[in-house]
Amino acid sequence: LFAGAADFTWAAPELGALPPMEGVEIAFAGRSNVGKSSLVNALTGRNTLARTSHTPGRTQQLNFFRIGERFTLVDMPGYGYAQVEKAKVEAWTRLIHAYLKGRSNLARVYVLIDSRHGLKEIDTALLDGLDKAAVSYQLVLTKGDALKKSEMEKRIAGIHAALAKRPAAYPEVLLTSSRDDLGVPELRASIARLLQE
Ligand code: GTP
Ligand code: MG
Repeated sequence: LFAGAADFTWAAPELGALPPMEGVEIAFAGRSNVGKSSLVNALTGRNTLARTSHTPGRTQQLNFFRIGERFTLVDMPGYGYAQVEKAKVEAWTRLIHAYLKGRSNLARVYVLIDSRHGLKEIDTALLDGLDKAAVSYQLVLTKGDALKKSEMEKRIAGIHAALAKRPAAYPEVLLTSSRDDLGVPELRASIARLLQE
């Protein structure tokens, strides 16, 4: 599935500039700096496909990457915080919510959570919106290399508890590290299963 070409195909700075709804889309959402763009690169094995930065606020548009013949991966701007003006972050957040709730060819949203920080209020607000709109999502912990095993187990247990009463949530939580390739094959397998449904 990921062995073929992966190409940047479209950037949408606003809702009016989205590509036509063709083919299956899978989106990566999460707070600024959580590691969305890094995970796009890890999945495709292409280190410079999506632009990453240690400064929150790197990705400023919805970036569409066509993966082989099967689907399109959407790398989103982060929500929550960024080293850019508040008005910009608010505009991105509106764009993210509107895209996620209004896209009929969106098969699943992977909501990325920094394993060092866990679920924040701003994440919960997004999950509330997805549950309400019945948009299917799955949580992915990122930066799994940055926590000790015991801390990670606690983190995962906390996240499972928070997911229990969420109707649109896929029950399995994936633990990943783009740095160590941890959980990346499992995420590829998760996407492959999704495309078979
Ligand atoms: P925005 O586009 O600003 O919303 O950020 P993003 O979510 O796309 O994050 P990005 O991939 O740009 O990564 C942000 C920072 O986290 C960079 O400094 C990355 O090197 C770092 N990072 C990403 N993945 C990992 C990981 O698996 N482990 C560790 N330790 N750091 C990571
Ligand atoms: Mg990014």
